[in-house]
Amino acid sequence: MNKPLRIAVTGAAGQICYALLPRIAAGEMFGPDQPIILQLLELPLEKPQQALAGVAMELEDGAYPLLSGIVCTGDPASAFRDADWCLLIGSKPRGPGMERADLLKDNGRIFVEQGRIIDAVASDACRVVVVGNPCNTNCMIAAHQARRLPRSRFTAMTRLDQNRAVAQIAKRAQVSVSAVHDLVVYGNHSPTMYPDFVNARINGVPVPEVIGDLGWLRESFVPAVAQRGAEIIKARGVSSAASAAQALIDHVRALRTPGAALHSVAVESDGSYGFAPGVWASVPVRTVAPGEYRIDTRCAHDDWARAKLAATNAELVAERDTVREMLT
Ligand code: NAD
Ligand code: LMR
Repeated sequence: MNKPLRIAVTGAAGQICYALLPRIAAGEMFGPDQPIILQLLELPLEKPQQALAGVAMELEDGAYPLLSGIVCTGDPASAFRDADWCLLIGSKPRGPGMERADLLKDNGRIFVEQGRIIDAVASDACRVVVVGNPCNTNCMIAAHQARRLPRSRFTAMTRLDQNRAVAQIAKRAQVSVSAVHDLVVYGNHSPTMYPDFVNARINGVPVPEVIGDLGWLRESFVPAVAQRGAEIIKARGVSSAASAAQALIDHVRALRTPGAALHSVAVESDGSYGFAPGVWASVPVRTVAPGEYRIDTRCAHDDWARAKLAATNAELVAERDTVREMLT
């Protein structure tokens, strides 16, 4: 058996974690031969700590062979100590009628503190994934606290947007989701995101050729993917959780598994695709070694797509300006 990996997870008594933690414990994120220790962080208040104790009891009752230990804490330093992966979920979700960017001032502060502590106490190999919204800019804030860990270790999750886009295309084309490839979502995890159907393929054939309806792709598909989070909040009264958990499993597995596939991951922009250097923009990445990725710069975009990329970039730049004082 391998040495256990230490997985820090924040917001551990929240709804995403309720869907996620049993699946990590069962080996779905790190594989069937990889023992893990879950280091679970919640707010240091009576109610969340009590709820966290309940989550831990349920994990214990699952009798997962790969789960070598559970730490429950309200102290970020204890949660992040020697962590190999930090999954930063804990933060306020939006409610009906809000945009994710409305959360910036409240949630941004969390990522200043957590970024600093992770840099101080996590393992040298640590990878950090930000899920808490607005995830691109929160990830930028956390990465700016790092002095020891390279900024490339900090990624934000746009995989849920990719999964949503793949599901919508598969439904329209009446194919299995596994027939849809290289469907990358660009930019911000917000209504300005651009799910790039032009470079995506269904069984090797470009999506626009298979669908044969550019109007639907531009006017229905793109906004439907961009507004799916809000649609779920309207229906459920709370934000997506099961699909967010699935997307995080996909995100981590993609980054741990080298291969030719393109994945949507929000990373520090190097200027590719016109994104301002230094914002965290979702772009196509390929995993080149476990935990190591490269931005794939080979996708071509027409004028319509370039306007979408420019709009989502402008929003990321505006968010960066809003939190400038947090980027020390
Ligand atoms: P939730 O309210 O159910 O759970 C959040 C938990 O985080 C709560 O238990 C809260 O006590 C805890 N928390 C708050 N601040 C914390 C801190 N500083 N340290 C540790 N724990 C803290 O929310 P949820 O539905 O689990 O969603 C969590 C976040 O994920 C939200 O910001 C939501 O908008 C975001 N989200 C992102 C995506 C994405 O695709 N990137 C998808 C779904 C949800
Ligand atoms: C989502 O896309 O479902 C999440 O980011 C939650 C939200 O606020 O939309």
